[in-house]
Amino acid sequence: MNDFTALREYMAACRGRTDEHLERWLSPTVAASPRLADAMRYVALGGGKRIRAILVYAACEFCGGKPEQADLPAAAIELVHAYSLVHDDLPAMDDDELRRGRATCHIAYDEATAILAGDTLHTLAFELLAREGGLDDGTRVAMIRLLAQAAGANGMAAGQMQDIESSGAELTLEALEEIHWLKTGRLITAALLLGYLAARAEDPLREQALEDYGNRMGLAFQIRDDILDVTGDSEELGKPGGSDSRHEKETFPELIGLEASREQAGKLCRQACELLGDYGERADILRQLAGYIISRTH
Ligand code: IPE
Ligand code: IPE
Ligand code: MG
Ligand code: MG
Ligand code: MG
Repeated sequence: MNDFTALREYMAACRGRTDEHLERWLSPTVAASPRLADAMRYVALGGGKRIRAILVYAACEFCGGKPEQADLPAAAIELVHAYSLVHDDLPAMDDDELRRGRATCHIAYDEATAILAGDTLHTLAFELLAREGGLDDGTRVAMIRLLAQAAGANGMAAGQMQDIESSGAELTLEALEEIHWLKTGRLITAALLLGYLAARAEDPLREQALEDYGNRMGLAFQIRDDILDVTGDSEELGKPGGSDSRHEKETFPELIGLEASREQAGKLCRQACELLGDYGERADILRQLAGYIISRTH
């Protein structure tokens, strides 16, 4: 069995666990309004690579934890991510009509329902983290704080604000990196640190290695997303190509060109893998995931 097969199997197993848990938390009666429950399920159970959940599992296992310890935070971060996509696609933001190969939530339902489904997926994430799940109170509070900070006013939402404010503007590479780091990188790093907390490893060196790896791979993830917006095929992406140029968004390919963007993502991937150099085989999955993130085709 080569490494690629092993990675594919690992990712499929994590996706299976995540989908199973999300299905459980998003029963048809999850909301007092059947229409809202339906929209929440449409969004959160409708596919996706589940890369953030996979990173929670991989980091947890890297720190000696078991997959079951990572189930709640893996589901929670995918809920926050799903909410961010619903709002990102709204007419007031990127105004996109296709997501994960299906009509976006505001097209399948309507704008008010999409806004509310985003809101309720967001709050459900924190409800899950507050649940028992075999974790002690201190760990759960630390997870809630971590995810809130990564998603909030100095995290993903701030990155989305800067992304909109900068539409049509010329940015420096530094400013664009800041936006990418906030809107995408912070949740990717949070996934890794949630995995660390879930494992309850108390190993500051490992925690730092995960954070440094996350900071690089978070940026690399969005650089790859920018590249795919130019080169990807809508059918394979499951979302419209060319969305960035339609909205005059500054992107890595726009600023430094496609080839230099690929090189930059490759460099970040190499740095992220080197940071795990001391951990031998235990870090194999994280190294392979870094390679996947910069070479994925959707
Ligand atoms: C898309 O994220 C939005 C970004 C932050 C770039 P993903 O590429 O992880 O989307 P899904 O979850 O697989 O649909
Ligand atoms: C959005 O970046 C990142 C989020 C926080 C949702 P994009 O706007 O480039 O994501 P896609 O391309 O629509 O998935
Ligand atoms: Mg956007
Ligand atoms: Mg978008
Ligand atoms: Mg994009």
